[in-house]
Amino acid sequence: MDTNAASVPARSSKLLVEHARKSFRQDSGAEISAIADLSFSVKSGEYVAIVGPTGAGKSVLLDCLLGLKFLDAGQIRVDGLPVENFVREKKGHITRIFQEDRLLPWLSATDNAAFGLQIQGVSQADRRKQAVRWLDAVGLSAFKDALPRELSGGMRQRVNIARAFAPNPELVLLDEAFSALDDVTASRLRQDFKALAQSQQTTFLIVTHSIDEAIFLANRILVFGAPARLMAEIAVPPLAWEDRVASDRIKDEVRSLIVAGARPG
Ligand SMILES: Nc1ncnc2c1ncn2[C@@H]1O[C@H](COP(=O)(O)OP(=O)(O)OP(=O)(O)O)[C@@H](O)[C@H]1O
Ligand SMILES: [Mg+2]
Repeated sequence: MDTNAASVPARSSKLLVEHARKSFRQDSGAEISAIADLSFSVKSGEYVAIVGPTGAGKSVLLDCLLGLKFLDAGQIRVDGLPVENFVREKKGHITRIFQEDRLLPWLSATDNAAFGLQIQGVSQADRRKQAVRWLDAVGLSAFKDALPRELSGGMRQRVNIARAFAPNPELVLLDEAFSALDDVTASRLRQDFKALAQSQQTTFLIVTHSIDEAIFLANRILVFGAPARLMAEIAVPPLAWEDRVASDRIKDEVRSLIVAGARPG
């Protein structure tokens, strides 16, 4: 276990976050820090979970990783490039699966799954072909023409998974992707998501409040305090989710770190 939160990450990382800071000015005029001197790195092919108290800046960080928000200080690099350059040069190679369903209600499952391919300049015929292949891969062959409102929450999240993988992404970001689903559906989707990520050799970063989910999906858990800073990195041994003693030990440690890292009040 490495609890040396100040360690400087290697340059060869897939993703490098170095001394990141971000604050927001609230309506009251007060400034609130969302990310405070955060550094960590993710290697290619790694599966990393971020856990931390509510309001710890985890979702703000993911927006910064997608190039949707900008840091006040520090840097984010993907494949050695500043994230803004990576996003511009390698369009659609960072994708996301969020808790809220981001499907376009007027588009079929196929057109929704094909959505990320458009910005990559893929022809319409190839977009449809690839989207259908991915809908097959997530078990939705029979629902290619269905509109989002005709699908269950689990099926819609399957379309989101297809959409996230279709552009052949290098990095997939998940933010509470399975937490709005019942336990059985969530567990199936986690298994299917992990199998797809393994088959595609995709690196992923998952934000979750479920420590069980983090143990199942990740090789490494980053525990954040609030505002976002690295409190600890915990290695997840292979098959730890099947080992009650190992997973309970990780859960106890993560829980006590989250309590210690929460904002007062
Ligand atoms: N656009 C914004 N304007 C002002 N403050 C913001 C904005 N976005 C986020 N914040 C603040 O930044 C902090 C971090 O928010 P964020 O949503 O990233 O937390 P989180 O770790 O994702 O929490 P949760 O686990 O509840 O999803 C919060 O205090 C939030 O109020
Ligand atoms: Mg959040």
